[in-house]
Amino acid sequence: MITSIDARSTKSKDLYRYLSDAVTPRPIAFVSSIDKKGNKNLSPFSFFNVFSIDPPVLVFSPVNRTRDNTSKDTLENVKDINECVISLVTEEIAQQVSLASCEFDSNVNEFEKAGLTEVKSECISPPRVMESPINFECKVTQIISLGTNGGAGNLVICEVLKIHIDNRVLENDQTINPFKLNIVSRYGKNWYGKTTQDSLYEIAKPISKTGIGIDQLPNSIKESTILTGSDLAILASIEKIPEKKDFTLRDEHNTAEKHILAKAFLEKNETEKAWQILL
Ligand SMILES: Cc1cc2nc3c(=O)[nH]c(=O)nc-3n(C[C@H](O)[C@H](O)[C@H](O)COP(=O)(O)O)c2cc1C
Repeated sequence: MITSIDARSTKSKDLYRYLSDAVTPRPIAFVSSIDKKGNKNLSPFSFFNVFSIDPPVLVFSPVNRTRDNTSKDTLENVKDINECVISLVTEEIAQQVSLASCEFDSNVNEFEKAGLTEVKSECISPPRVMESPINFECKVTQIISLGTNGGAGNLVICEVLKIHIDNRVLENDQTINPFKLNIVSRYGKNWYGKTTQDSLYEIAKPISKTGIGIDQLPNSIKESTILTGSDLAILASIEKIPEKKDFTLRDEHNTAEKHILAKAFLEKNETEKAWQILL
């Protein structure tokens, strides 16, 4: 059974739940902005991602309140002063980030409310967050309003001018280590995700530029009741089906046994051995 929802006839309050519970995990932009009077603002937005490398562009979306169709202070600020810092949210500061999301008046500084430390930015006026290991100083180049109703998003398109990275999250080769970064993500309801060793795993890039694809696998493999779609995808990520080498199985004709063995090798990342068993 499938529950199908007609988006056009669903109330925005319910759509909000379906969309934000489903599209997960989302990274969180902790956005520092200022208003015309110089009041500082710091608020989290999980409708956020990277959309371009050259130019380097991040986008987040303050949504008009579904309650009364008013807009968020952050949106008003970046319309007036088109600058912001986007800081990333780690497990260490997640509770403070959540506190900063309270609807404080526009003249309240959430750095103070959340007990976070302002650091002067180098290219723009809003300060960055000392406790966040990665801060992006950005120029807001465009704001695209997606509608006029409560729940309508406003895409704030931010060109990155400067990236500040705390060395403690860097490897020797200057790349970012996900476990040192310890980023937090947003799920639906009150759920957040951590970056633990057992929640992350690697999928090796296909060895060849173009995998043969599952459609090119021999039927005996493709129609297996033991190998899953995921197993078949690993097998089909090679450029051509390997030559059979000498390999003895107890019973060459026992397909189930072959597939069980092959599956065990795939689980250990030993694709070549899995192929040899299947050939
Ligand atoms: C982790 C987290 C993510 C959030 N993501 C969004 C979002 O993507 N868009 C949005 O409009 N509000 C989001 N909110 C709610 C805003 O942070 C909240 O409305 C805040 O009061 C806005 O502050 P401002 O009015 O000072 O801009 C989020 C809140 C939390 C805690």
